Amino acid sequence: MEKIYIGVAWPYANGPLHLGHMCGAYLPADIFARFNRIKGNEVLMVSGSDQHGTPITITAEKKGKIPEEIAEYYHKIHVKDLKRLGISFDLFTKTTTENHTRVVQGLFRTLYDNGYIYPKKVQVLYCPVCKRYLPDRYVEGTCPFCGNKNAKGDQCDECGKTLDPVNLTDPRCKICGSIPKIRESEHLFLKLSAFTDRLSEWVEKNNHWRASVRKFTKKWLANGLRDRAISRDLSWGIPVPVDGFEDKTIYVWFDAVTGYLSASIEWAKIRGDKNLWKEFWKDERVKHYYFIAKDNIPFHSIIWPAMLMGYGGLNLPYQISANEFLKLGKDQFSKSTGVCIWVQDCLSALNPDVLRYCLTVTMPETKDSECKPYKFIGYNNSELVGNLGNLIHRILTFTHKNFGSVPRPGPLIKQDEELLERIDVTFKEVGDFIQNCHFKRGLKSIMDLAQTGNKYFDQASPWKLIKSDRERCGTVLYCTLRLTKAISIMLEPYLPFTSEKIWKLIGYEGNIGQHRWNEALTEISPGQKLRKPKILFKKLDFCAIFEHPFGNLDLRLAKIVSVEAHPNADKLWIVTADLGMLGQRQLIAGLKPYYSREQLLNQWIVVLTNLEPRKLRGYQSEGMMLAAQDGEKVSFLTLDGKGQPGDQITVDGIMPQPKTLLGIQDFQQVELTIDDKGLVMLEGKALRTKEGKIKTSSRVRAGSKIC
Ligand code: MF3
Ligand code: ZN
Repeated sequence: MEKIYIGVAWPYANGPLHLGHMCGAYLPADIFARFNRIKGNEVLMVSGSDQHGTPITITAEKKGKIPEEIAEYYHKIHVKDLKRLGISFDLFTKTTTENHTRVVQGLFRTLYDNGYIYPKKVQVLYCPVCKRYLPDRYVEGTCPFCGNKNAKGDQCDECGKTLDPVNLTDPRCKICGSIPKIRESEHLFLKLSAFTDRLSEWVEKNNHWRASVRKFTKKWLANGLRDRAISRDLSWGIPVPVDGFEDKTIYVWFDAVTGYLSASIEWAKIRGDKNLWKEFWKDERVKHYYFIAKDNIPFHSIIWPAMLMGYGGLNLPYQISANEFLKLGKDQFSKSTGVCIWVQDCLSALNPDVLRYCLTVTMPETKDSECKPYKFIGYNNSELVGNLGNLIHRILTFTHKNFGSVPRPGPLIKQDEELLERIDVTFKEVGDFIQNCHFKRGLKSIMDLAQTGNKYFDQASPWKLIKSDRERCGTVLYCTLRLTKAISIMLEPYLPFTSEKIWKLIGYEGNIGQHRWNEALTEISPGQKLRKPKILFKKLDFCAIFEHPFGNLDLRLAKIVSVEAHPNADKLWIVTADLGMLGQRQLIAGLKPYYSREQLLNQWIVVLTNLEPRKLRGYQSEGMMLAAQDGEKVSFLTLDGKGQPGDQITVDGIMPQPKTLLGIQDFQQVELTIDDKGLVMLEGKALRTKEGKIKTSSRVRAGSKIC
């Protein structure tokens, strides 16, 4: 048994997770972690929300919120999305904990005391209009190295170089667009240059790294390491623990990478043995694997290792598995530009294993890859339903119907031996591929094996044998059940939910994730009772998922915060609705004949937010509050269950589309109705938030329409 440490990039808590995050870091890390656990290794996999720094404060300013609120809001969403997709962290924490603060300050202080951090007067940018310093992402401009016009103050996404805002050509203030002034400020610098030799030697030794990571790092070292400022004139962050610098905070990257260590310490405390983390960090035999996207390479292959060297006594990275970018069209996925497909949207239309499958197939392991969601339908229908699902289902239904349990095999013939041998070969292959982080190839091997299984089943034709030679039929089915068992185990790292289902169907109890990798090759006991087969994957209809007009509606849950009479109309209320992160909206609603102010105040309502704004008797309506009409009776739509202002309202099986402004006729195309329990339905499925359903606020007849 080995101990394995897995660190996964910490997502900024300034927006939800998108498919780029999943493909780039979380899914590959999870496949690797699950594989190692099922092999019997002891895995510690940690990460958390990156909650400090300018990405958070800029988002907060844009939304009129305080940074704490943004950081917490998206942290909760991260936790939920990761869980729904089955990403099996031992701990997913955040950088605003007391523990993290202490560890970061301790590390900072030690490096300072060891002489690796020193003060220096430098030029920084200051915005005369906003009257503030402009660290990192508060500035944009042209990259001095590659000419990219939209480089961020701290890093260029085109050439990957880390930058200093003063070096940008034609810098602009990100908030107001003005040209910044140069000011002098004293900052603390990390003496990266002191680590040049040790880092070079170390990188040289690590010839098992992915070629792209090695090449990038060597080039960086060859260009010479420059010391980097690691304090900032920013109030949102961890205070610098050095006299005279108390009003500055620690650079967000220094803060975030230290999370790898602090999360391990927090995990140990939660486990009840506060020294447990040392077994992973101080025992040199424990290999440290990092899963990140390529824009994070220098922080993991140079800066973090340098920090660890300067501290001493802790393990350095063993493998840095950096994926390339996932693109949508020609653009890179990015929260800040909004070129994105959100995980939560996909999960409202696809089950988590289908999404995991599609993402693994699309994973940008060696080159950038393009994400084409419409292809997901094909992967599902031809590969999961047509190949894998079909194989397992025909084996199980046929055996269950004719034998009820695992048949006792008679003598094996050549075809049987060949199939079992093929399982053997695939098993070794998949293990090697996953161990070496070639996840796509591992999954491909399993799918090829499934195809071989389908051919074997066709050729052996058990449906004929059952009439002519029951013993031979039993032997064939026995072999296919061996195959089913092996596939169930090998799939666990990739499709954990499906794997578990298969495991149960072939009659096992308990959790498949417990140390059973080698059992892929062992016997399945004759006589073991099979459970009643269930379909694993369903065919998906492209149009229903991607082109349903409901997907264009941006329906949100909101809470009414004020209700005023419209000065120019008897029947209209001016309602102000709180949509959480989306801010507040003014809605003009024709509800005055039906509801008093008190009846509306503080109620949950449903708002169509992407309706073209229009003026009603001189007042702007920035959306539409939905209600059901039953003759003379009107009932506004509300929430049944839990929710938060701004929660998106979806229908299972329909993928929300990027939103454009709609006319009222776009809304009228979608036929929402009320069922006999008062729930709001679309074609037989309920409208829902993640935790609740939408219903009418008072009884109306089933079949009533929405207006
Ligand atoms: N928050 C960074 C990003 O989203 C990644 C930080 S990785 C870390 O790009 F672990 F170093 F924090
Ligand atoms: Zn400005």
